[in-house]
Amino acid sequence: MKRIAVIPGDGIGVEVTAEAVKVLHVFMDRRGLPLELVTFDWGADKYLREGVSLPDGALEMLRREFHAILIGALGDPRVPSNQHAADILLGIRFGLDLYANQRPVKLLDARLCPLKDRAEHDVNFVIFRENTEGLYVGVGGNFKRGSEDEVALQEDVNTRRGVERILVHAFEYARSHGRRRLCMSDKSNAMAHAHGLWRRTFDDVRKHYPDIKSRHLYIDTLTMELVRDPAQFDVIVTCNLFGDILSDLGAQLVGGLGLAPSANLHPGRTSMFEPVHGSAPSLAGKNLANPLAAILTVGMMLENLRFPEAVRDVERAVTEAVRLNQTTPDLGGKLGTREVGDWVCSHL
Ligand code: NAD
Ligand code: IPM
Ligand code: MN
Repeated sequence: MKRIAVIPGDGIGVEVTAEAVKVLHVFMDRRGLPLELVTFDWGADKYLREGVSLPDGALEMLRREFHAILIGALGDPRVPSNQHAADILLGIRFGLDLYANQRPVKLLDARLCPLKDRAEHDVNFVIFRENTEGLYVGVGGNFKRGSEDEVALQEDVNTRRGVERILVHAFEYARSHGRRRLCMSDKSNAMAHAHGLWRRTFDDVRKHYPDIKSRHLYIDTLTMELVRDPAQFDVIVTCNLFGDILSDLGAQLVGGLGLAPSANLHPGRTSMFEPVHGSAPSLAGKNLANPLAAILTVGMMLENLRFPEAVRDVERAVTEAVRLNQTTPDLGGKLGTREVGDWVCSHL
């Protein structure tokens, strides 16, 4: 039995997770997949009501009692500090040491690519985002806060161990998935200390992978190249912040955030699966959010839990929904969130 912790979160996170859970129930009820789902109400409502974001002992419980975590999105205009989202989302990424954030960018239907004359096979790469270090660690502070002399510090923390393990992870993924090209991206020309470490570590690690054609691009150049000719990329590996930004760019190359899944991984440990998008407050509660990113995320989770047939079925049903335009308005369709979820469930 695989136990899955479900955290719908805030805004459209709740709506898209409901559809993802429906898909999981199809696998449990009709296919006999041995899954048990337990839902947690962590999010803005609970935070505002009880002052609790990530409850005491939650990390230990997730690590010990669950095989995977499925999370919707966190973020609510009533919590401008975003404190609860930092505690829950970043808290789980850091607390469970989920160092590899895998964000595939795959064009399911050429019609959805905003670039001219691209076929499906032209956009098919995987971003690996370092997920436990960098500018996200929250080290820093404000001095003379609120005054004209205010000083703000946000430290970029990079360790040899942390950089090496994400690079190795990306190379190993490339090798085991028949992806022959890997691009590491940083800003070592301007950030000599932090990204100099990335550059030197990359030069060491790549020597062990002569079978993978690896290269380095500065992040500004990579951003340009991704729009000019995305077909040249197979695997991209980069730091936490750049990976965040690139993954939204990647999402738009394939039709938008409504189609972008992700996994936060530490091989062999309880990992967390989430769509790339946020809680989209302006769409929330309107049955307008696209649930396909969350449903593709279920595919990534089932792959991690070693149900390879289920993954293929999820991808096939989502691709069919997209090609037949059984979609929400962001993809040009006329269906609502729930109707898209129902369509996918009935075509699995
Ligand atoms: P967002 O991803 O919520 O929305 C960006 C744009 O994409 C909006 O126009 C939105 O309408 C559209 N969009 C996103 N998901 C969609 C979907 N499933 N279907 C259709 N359209 C979709 O990003 P934002 O507006 O910058 O952030 C809103 C809140 O979400 C903030 O509080 C932010 O911090 C949070 N956030 C959370 C996560 C997460 O929990 N993983 C990720 C990103 C942002
Ligand atoms: C993401 C989100 C988060 C991030 C935010 C909500 C902290 O944008 O998962 O891409 O930057 O990692
Ligand atoms: Mn993001």
